[in-house]
Amino acid sequence: MERSKILVWDLPTRIAHWLLAASFIGAFATGDSERLRDVHVVLGYTMLGLVAFRLVWGFAGSRYARFGSFAFGPRAVLEYLKSLFTRAPRHYVGHNPAGSWAIYALLALSVLAGATGYATYSNLGGDWMEELHGGLANALLAVVIIHVLGVIASSILHRENLVRAMLSGYKSGDPADGIRGRRLLAGTALALGVAAFWIIAPGSLLMPGGGADQAAGHHSAHQDDD
Ligand code: HEM
Ligand code: HEM
Repeated sequence: MERSKILVWDLPTRIAHWLLAASFIGAFATGDSERLRDVHVVLGYTMLGLVAFRLVWGFAGSRYARFGSFAFGPRAVLEYLKSLFTRAPRHYVGHNPAGSWAIYALLALSVLAGATGYATYSNLGGDWMEELHGGLANALLAVVIIHVLGVIASSILHRENLVRAMLSGYKSGDPADGIRGRRLLAGTALALGVAAFWIIAPGSLLMPGGGADQAAGHHSAHQDDD
């Protein structure tokens, strides 16, 4: 089989991934800070937006970005993990079965952390909601650590740098397995969309008064319940 450089990850998938990773790190680091609450909330909303985009892209994206290409059952996960202890670890051009389960967990936990964050911010639920939000953020951190360890392990086992591939889009493989276009237009639209959100969000209706703790002042933003 001829092996050459093939494109595997389209641009929107890569942009969404690295913005999601950066937003998570930023949101996690600023969760405890009252002073940085606005930054925290903007990054949390960014994660929600990126996951929403990723869900759409799971149907509209290119071959390896589509959920159909990494919808694996428990048996496939077990067989993949078992194959790692043999001389011929099973190789996948796109996401492997074990990695794909981590991916679904990351997407689901991001939505739950974001939703409970929003509820905490809107003073819905009270203390238990805040506790739940913190707990979900920690659960997400745990899965992120597993995810990164899995990426490192499978990069070593398959002698394939997955981080570099998620940055450049390229892997080495059979030319017939590559995707054709990098989806430049959708990628640019996504990047501009996030940039515009970061500019517009602070001070918008999404962030009334700039924080959940308004004990010191009168909250005067006018909001209609429609
Ligand atoms: C900063 C550390 C991180 C590194 C080095 C990293 C690396 C990677 C790599 C290499 C892949 C591709 C895996 C493969 O080839 O199958 C991937 C996929 C993925 N990662 Fe991460 N990741 C990191 C953090 C995160 C975080 C914080 C999240 C979410 C909160 C996340 C969510 C995802 C998702 C959803 C995918 C699937 C990509 C797609 O198809 O859209 N990652 N990650
Ligand atoms: C999905 C990404 C998010 C992550 C990883 C995250 C993480 C965290 C963490 C670790 C804390 C500290 C919890 C504690 O000390 O028990 C926190 C607190 C908080 N988060 Fe988030 N958060 C996210 C999204 C959001 C969103 C979208 C909002 C609002 C719209 C939000 C609003 C808050 C508020 C108001 C607090 C402070 C609770 C308090 O101490 O009064 N978060 N977050």
